[in-house]
Amino acid sequence: MSFQPIMLDVDTGVDDAAAIAYALGLEADLVAVSTVAGNIHIDLTTGNTLKVLSLLGAEDVPVFRGASRPLIKPFQDAAHIHGGNGLGGATIPDALADEADLTAPEAIIAMAEEFQGDLTFVAAGPLTNLAIALSLRPQIAQQIGKLVLMGGAFFNPGNVTPYAEFNIWADPDAAAQVFATEWNEVIAIGLDVTHQVAITTRMWEAIPEKFSGAAGLMRKIAARTFTERVRSGFFLHDPLAVAVALDESLVTLEPYAVEVVTDGEERGRTIVRDGGNVLIATEVKAEVFLRRFCDALGMPYVQDDAGLDGAE
Ligand code: BDR
Ligand code: CA
Repeated sequence: MSFQPIMLDVDTGVDDAAAIAYALGLEADLVAVSTVAGNIHIDLTTGNTLKVLSLLGAEDVPVFRGASRPLIKPFQDAAHIHGGNGLGGATIPDALADEADLTAPEAIIAMAEEFQGDLTFVAAGPLTNLAIALSLRPQIAQQIGKLVLMGGAFFNPGNVTPYAEFNIWADPDAAAQVFATEWNEVIAIGLDVTHQVAITTRMWEAIPEKFSGAAGLMRKIAARTFTERVRSGFFLHDPLAVAVALDESLVTLEPYAVEVVTDGEERGRTIVRDGGNVLIATEVKAEVFLRRFCDALGMPYVQDDAGLDGAE
């Protein structure tokens, strides 16, 4: 494991909450969190992020509110997957801190400048904030040491349409800008690997109901998936991006150029070509990751490959 300053951009969101919990459980140096509209409205993604940080004793991590809608496309949420409140309908206590004054793009620029080459930026939602920050200050592409983004369906079908993964589909114009930028290092964690990691029914059932903290949070926010929606798992898309930000050896990375389809039936499609410098994760050490995830959240690890089949 390496330790470096990390900024997370989230649309909290069940798996975004899990990603925050995972980063804190690993004692990563989480210097800031920014929020974006995506899974749910920006008021809720921001409020949920503040609540999750407070619940886990990290209310001192500053939270910067970001874009309330995509660059060009109308906003459309994913409440059917994440529940009407974005946290699977779970109620968690009020936050102990307020959001910070800067907007998310301003905070991204400030953090990139402050940490000059050392900052790892993990984008776990639509790429709107990053595109706005890039447009305001193109130098951030060199100032951010490493960008890890959860997004894309490069070699496998999408999850919103047969072509597209949600984060890219939600703001394809922002994604197109991000993929067209020359970053120091950019890693894309797409469905090709995230569809191999999920909290499954058996893992969820193994968390005692009395548990509090990160494991208790996971038990609450994932409950709707297993009860109301009767699915066998919830994919850990965003936690895997955090994991790779801290340890690239969890995945196999191959360099490609990525083009994003911004309009029409194939909106959000991520087309790969040879000759680029986007490092795309093509394989994942799923069990190693899942064991680390469970350890970090303080929940028992249970092997349950069958749970992947009916996960969402
Ligand atoms: C991505 O979309 C969101 O619903 C999840 O939080 C994740 O970031 C998966 O397609
Ligand atoms: Ca997300």
